[in-house]
Amino acid sequence: MTDLTEQKLATLNAIEAAQTPDALEELRVAALGKKGWVSAALKTLGQMSPEERTEAAPAIQAVRGEVGDAIAARKEVLEGAALEAKLASETLDLTLPAVEQKRGSVHPVSQVMDELAEIFADLGFAVATGPEIEDDWHNFTALNMDESHPARAMHDTFYFPDKDSEGRSMLLRTHTSPVQIRSMKEQGAPIRIIAPGRVYRSDSDATHTPMFHQVEGLVVDKGIHLGHLKWTLETFLKAFFEREDIVLRLRPSYFPFTEPSVEVDVGYAKEDGRRVVGGSGDDEGHEWMELLGSGMVNRRVLESAGVDAQEYQGFAFGVGVDRLAMLKYGMDDLRAFFDGDVRWLSHYGFSAFDQPTLSAGVGARA
Ligand code: PHE
Repeated sequence: MTDLTEQKLATLNAIEAAQTPDALEELRVAALGKKGWVSAALKTLGQMSPEERTEAAPAIQAVRGEVGDAIAARKEVLEGAALEAKLASETLDLTLPAVEQKRGSVHPVSQVMDELAEIFADLGFAVATGPEIEDDWHNFTALNMDESHPARAMHDTFYFPDKDSEGRSMLLRTHTSPVQIRSMKEQGAPIRIIAPGRVYRSDSDATHTPMFHQVEGLVVDKGIHLGHLKWTLETFLKAFFEREDIVLRLRPSYFPFTEPSVEVDVGYAKEDGRRVVGGSGDDEGHEWMELLGSGMVNRRVLESAGVDAQEYQGFAFGVGVDRLAMLKYGMDDLRAFFDGDVRWLSHYGFSAFDQPTLSAGVGARA
């Protein structure tokens, strides 16, 4: 075996054993580089006789070809393996959301309260708030329920053991109506407010929780009558449920703080076991559902709040926010609203970017 053949075999073995592109490159330079042994062999051709050259040249060129091919083949193998390793280490989890991982959501009660604020702002209402820890004067007495009034007993009130500095019993407010009193005392008349917030009653089953949410509405001005109340409720419910065929039924009722008082029913149909608001309750396949309490503000309430009842009239209404959310978004158990189960929250919750606007539709979902 000539030197050349020996060197060739050694190089081919080394190429086969090379584990990295760098090692392979070293072998290439050592053989085919300017100072490599193949190049050196080619240089010897110059000193040969023509006869020797015709014999030696093809042999050297053949070695060059074989070494070159072996390097290229090994390179392909090494690059393929490197790609495999890269793919294996850089796995993509295609089950992840494309843009960002969803970490929290807006509770349906918050979303509905935002929707209400948006709808009523358009009608010129401001949002008012009051304390959840209330005294019995604001929660009852000023609303025409003095100590002996039987309606007090119907409220299943949570009382605190101690009285306040003025000797008033303290309690968790049983409705948002005390905000009527506070707002009128502060701002006088005319006034146009909604007051959303938490209320508390000692009651618990599938449709009642000890804490729930109401929104109060109050309009006091000159010449206000029941027609304004009906129009306002119709306009509000059409905007809220995003349909024109909302039909209301006003029934005479009783609340100490309104006179006359009207209970408002809304027509609905059952679709897939779910109540869908719309149409008249007297229509085929429809029924009436009690939705809210309302009425003309009792003049004794205006007087308690320092508003001249000779000059001003008003209407008020109170509606359950959780109830509205259930009807609009299809939940059937109120208790789940307050369990804090992340599966429920991510199913029924809203994106923080999905802010209700009248122009985009107050019920738009991202
Ligand atoms: N406060 C009443 C309730 O909680 C609802 C209501 C508000 C009724 C305003 C009439 C006027 O049941």
